[in-house]
Amino acid sequence: MVNGVMRPWFAVLLCLAPLTAQAAIDGPALFDEHCAKCHGSDGQARTLRGYLYFAQNLASPSWQAAKSDANILKKINTGPGFMPAFEKSLTLEERESLVRVVRGFASRSE
Ligand code: HEC
Repeated sequence: MVNGVMRPWFAVLLCLAPLTAQAAIDGPALFDEHCAKCHGSDGQARTLRGYLYFAQNLASPSWQAAKSDANILKKINTGPGFMPAFEKSLTLEERESLVRVVRGFASRSE
């Protein structure tokens, strides 16, 4: 009897689970989707579009040292040069997670 009443609720919970999982922001996946075609998945811009558009090497130690997080966020918002602006197409949380992804490239450069 109890089981019969509970079962529909489990079904509802199972349906909601994928929705809550999607709410977590996956910065590296966002970068691969929106940024890697120019900046490369390692941030070093060794891509065809990276060369054609003069995309910034985001792993360069001197570039990393010269930029603040606020500065990087601003560039993502406005999109310098051939880069599109992302202020309207991505949420603030998504753009902030991309700043962290960009920062993560620092340790991977030669
Ligand atoms: C269409 C190619 C393209 C895409 C897509 C792109 N960028 Fe860029 N990005 C560029 C170019 C070109 C520059 C250099 C422009 C300049 O400074 O003159 C740049 C510069 C930058 C800079 C540094 C600007 C500075 O201060 O020197 C950051 C940070 C950056 N991009 C991050 C991102 C992130 C994060 C994404 C994804 C949300 C992204 N870019 C998507 C082409 C692109």
